[in-house]
Amino acid sequence: MAMVSGASRGIGLAIARQLLADGYRVSIGVRDVASTREVYSDVSNAHLLVAEFDACDPGSAAAWVGSTLDRFGRIHALVNNAGIWRKVGFDSGDEADLDELWEVNAKAPFRLTRLVLPHLRACGTGRIVNIASTDGVRFRDLSCSVGYTMSKHALVALSHASRHAGYDDGVRVTALCPGAVATEMVAGLPGVTPLARQLPPATVAQVVAMLLALPNNASVAWMPLNTRLESTL
Ligand SMILES: NC(=O)c1ccc[n+]([C@@H]2O[C@H](COP(=O)([O-])OP(=O)(O)OC[C@H]3O[C@@H](n4cnc5c(N)ncnc54)[C@H](OP(=O)(O)O)[C@@H]3O)[C@@H](O)[C@H]2O)c1
Repeated sequence: MAMVSGASRGIGLAIARQLLADGYRVSIGVRDVASTREVYSDVSNAHLLVAEFDACDPGSAAAWVGSTLDRFGRIHALVNNAGIWRKVGFDSGDEADLDELWEVNAKAPFRLTRLVLPHLRACGTGRIVNIASTDGVRFRDLSCSVGYTMSKHALVALSHASRHAGYDDGVRVTALCPGAVATEMVAGLPGVTPLARQLPPATVAQVVAMLLALPNNASVAWMPLNTRLESTL
């Protein structure tokens, strides 16, 4: 069974749909439970738990993990997908934006990893996929958000640390680093890959499913999924 954060829309929705289609039982953590239930009204409670999760609220992370264990008894995979973009540069954005980026994009995945790691270790083939970004492994140019880039580099660092923490017990962790994906997050942002060449969320979801299904001796520490040619990406 797999937990997916931020599966109300965008990439998270595509990941949850892909995993359900692949036969996983899925627990999604979302801010608005009632409206998200409607999005998944075709899926039975036996296969899907829609739980409250706000990345800015530590208590909701613990409650989501607890309700997932109550419903499904064990946890095989965690996909840290929930994330935000804010423009924070040297002459734009403010400390509140930077704090929110850190809270949602870095601290919440850390918190969930801490909570879930014992259960992933217990199953012997646990998996974590962190939805980072190409902005997590390089700084492209000053049209990018410095704050977002910092938070995604932190998520990649968390991925490497988590990989070490769980490795001996069969836990495999990947920082998946897509370029622009066609969701609300990047719609109309300057400097972003034009819409026609952006990745469909379903493509990212297929890659997540592939990463979760790999055997323990095929460990992918990080994986770029670029929409454009860059020197080593
Ligand atoms: N789109 C891209 O080009 C791109 C590229 C690389 C990586 N990524 C990463 O992929 C992930 C998903 O992005 P997306 O493109 O699907 O963005 P999106 O369409 O804006 O969706 C963001 C998701 O995160 C959730 N979320 C935001 N703040 C939250 C909070 N405080 N607590 C819980 N959930 C929260 C949203 O929930 P609500 O519905 O409640 O707002 C929504 O489900 C993010 O981590 C993003 O950084 C995106």
